[in-house]
Amino acid sequence: MGNSCINQLRFLIFLIASLAGAYQSYGFHHLSPKPRVPLFVFGDSLYDPGNNNYINTTPDFLANFLPYGETFFEFATGRFSDGRLIPDFIAKYAKLPLIPPYFQSSYRQFVYGVNFASGGGGALVETHEGKAIDLKTQLRYFKNVEKQLRRELGKEGTDQLLANAVYMFSIGGNDLLAPNPIFSSFSTEEYVGIIVGNFTEVLKEVYKAGGRKFGFLSLLPLGCLPYVRAHNAEGNGETCVKDLTDLAKSYNAALAQKFKQLRKQLKGFIYSNFDFFNAVTQRLSNPSKFQGSEEWMLW
Ligand SMILES: *[C@@H]1O[C@H](CO)[C@@H](O)[C@H](O)[C@H]1NC(C)=O
Repeated sequence: MGNSCINQLRFLIFLIASLAGAYQSYGFHHLSPKPRVPLFVFGDSLYDPGNNNYINTTPDFLANFLPYGETFFEFATGRFSDGRLIPDFIAKYAKLPLIPPYFQSSYRQFVYGVNFASGGGGALVETHEGKAIDLKTQLRYFKNVEKQLRRELGKEGTDQLLANAVYMFSIGGNDLLAPNPIFSSFSTEEYVGIIVGNFTEVLKEVYKAGGRKFGFLSLLPLGCLPYVRAHNAEGNGETCVKDLTDLAKSYNAALAQKFKQLRKQLKGFIYSNFDFFNAVTQRLSNPSKFQGSEEWMLW
């Protein structure tokens, strides 16, 4: 993940900072000396800090070997990056510790949040089923964490923690890149609707648990992913696959619409939807303008 790209994420950081500010200005700091904005992370390889190391999967869903991790951690943590991921930077700017993978976390760390993301995971259970952790299962794990927090912190403390937390999502790309053949009879629009529908169900569950502050990442131009271009029958291995990029665009548009609806439907629901599509497009079309990054995504 390039530093310049990270700069674009000041959005989310701003969200967290302003939330921390709001928290203080309501005077809650009288009750608790150290206001925290925990980070609960859901999603796919863009956000997976190593959860896939703990599941039974195949090598292509793992990033537990070099050069993954070489520029920052100096070993392969399971992140699909040579360095840190977006949630790692957000945690840093929010003055939180690194948010651990769910399978590596203990109650003591739950109060700063937990990361449930899984490389290859989708909003649909059928996407890479059995090889990655789908969003519904990630929600189930979140509910386990919630239960444990309620046991340890009690109702009031947990309600406050969950309402104060930021919930970050990066999901949907794998559903579009690797649709399960059982969906082949659906039109593109219907299929996008199913993904958005399932994603929305999960958001509503997090809201029901008390979550209010959400951070989203739109899909990048999927047809320009290096491995997609390498497998493109047309062109010289450099050419983007337009249909896939258009599909990502439709999904982004449908989801942006849905978020606006949720904002109206769910009292207190606030969000930031980072335009990752545009951020990546700009970097692909004018890479020299964004030079000087120390860390790059491998795919
Ligand atoms: C969620 O996805 C399943 C397939 O995994 C589908 O049958 C169901 O209709 C979807 N739900 C919504 C609300 O879109």
